[in-house]
Amino acid sequence: MATLFKNIKELIQVRTTPISFVSGDEMNILPTIKNAFLIVEDGLIANFGEMKECPIDDFTNVIDATGKMILPTWCDSHTHLVYAGNREGEFADRISGLSYEEIAENGGGIINSAKKLQQTSEDELYKQSEVRLKEVIQLGTGAIEIKSGYGLTAEAELKMLRVIKKLKENYPIEIKATFLGAHAIPLEYKENKTGYIDLLVNNIIPKVAQEKLAEYIDVFCETGYFSATDTKKILEAGKKHGLTPKIHVNQFTAIDGIQVGIQFNALSVDHLEVMRDIDIESLKKTNTMPVALPGCSYFLNIPYTPARKMIDAGLPIALASDFNPGSSPSGNMNFVIATACIKMKMTPQEAINASTINGAYAMGLETKTGTITKGKLANLILTKPINSYAFIPYSFGSNQIEKVYLKGIGIDG
Ligand code: NIG
Ligand code: FE
Repeated sequence: MATLFKNIKELIQVRTTPISFVSGDEMNILPTIKNAFLIVEDGLIANFGEMKECPIDDFTNVIDATGKMILPTWCDSHTHLVYAGNREGEFADRISGLSYEEIAENGGGIINSAKKLQQTSEDELYKQSEVRLKEVIQLGTGAIEIKSGYGLTAEAELKMLRVIKKLKENYPIEIKATFLGAHAIPLEYKENKTGYIDLLVNNIIPKVAQEKLAEYIDVFCETGYFSATDTKKILEAGKKHGLTPKIHVNQFTAIDGIQVGIQFNALSVDHLEVMRDIDIESLKKTNTMPVALPGCSYFLNIPYTPARKMIDAGLPIALASDFNPGSSPSGNMNFVIATACIKMKMTPQEAINASTINGAYAMGLETKTGTITKGKLANLILTKPINSYAFIPYSFGSNQIEKVYLKGIGIDG
């Protein structure tokens, strides 16, 4: 039961020895093999190398990749892909001059999505979300993190997490679930934030943990949402229940959330559009992955994460889509990579490392995916005929993917 990909023009992100992530100058190194073969057995990468060393065997399937490249599938470590309805109305309002913050203050934003989600059945929510999951798989995503956070009641948060669980059971893509009950303060608690935090800590977090519905815990640590002190309280409760932090910080303001994340050994700190020198300094020599979300900066017209400065300071960067109805209604990692190159001055090598191995690390999947390494999942992107991998971000807005393989099986669109 082996599949051979032969005559691969270039096999990208080849790592013979396992790595956890790459940082600083290493991010600009993207090892490849030209004119390569790759063998898949039982859904895993069994062997690869130069074509001249390709074993002669009886393969069940032979795929001729002449002129085409193979990369590991994208690892999208930050999404809110499960949501109900959309927010094109707010999009139009922003074009007419309202700010994202003003829309949120008027009951729009996350609260608007929460209202819709609370009124949507679990089956309907599953159906809407499944469409997006299928779409991102076709766009090359082979591992994805999905957050709750548009429920904001025990019932609706658990409903979201059950939908994520069902998607995980029904689709071959790797899925990690994150509990983001602390995404916004629900209207009923507008004057009683402490009451909502108590509900999260004493009621919802224990339920999520008991039903084993999430592995990670997230907080929107931001002015007007949850302070650094609130964040500590929530992460502390999460930690007590075995949930590892991955947090939203420094999107609009820097309020010491990064330092809280590091203190709690967060797996990642995400957004980082507003970075003080002290924030960059704090992240050095930690195991916390900084995650940039250029789709959000693009869509909201807010600053981009200073990735160039951060990489030059020796830090790693992961790139993710932030797929959500309010600040980034696209899960297209190819666009994310292009935007990182065009707007953040990341090189194609850096952007591909950030979207594969570093993204895998940011969701605890670095031993399973994110590189072409023997024993890892055969989650592969087969490109159309292209001359170099830089053509992927260069040709932004076009799709250079011919076929996506998850666990060695070609996924039909
Ligand atoms: O990651 N920043 C907080 N949460 C989401 C957006 C939420 C929304 O507008 O629906 C984000 O950008
Ligand atoms: Fe987000």
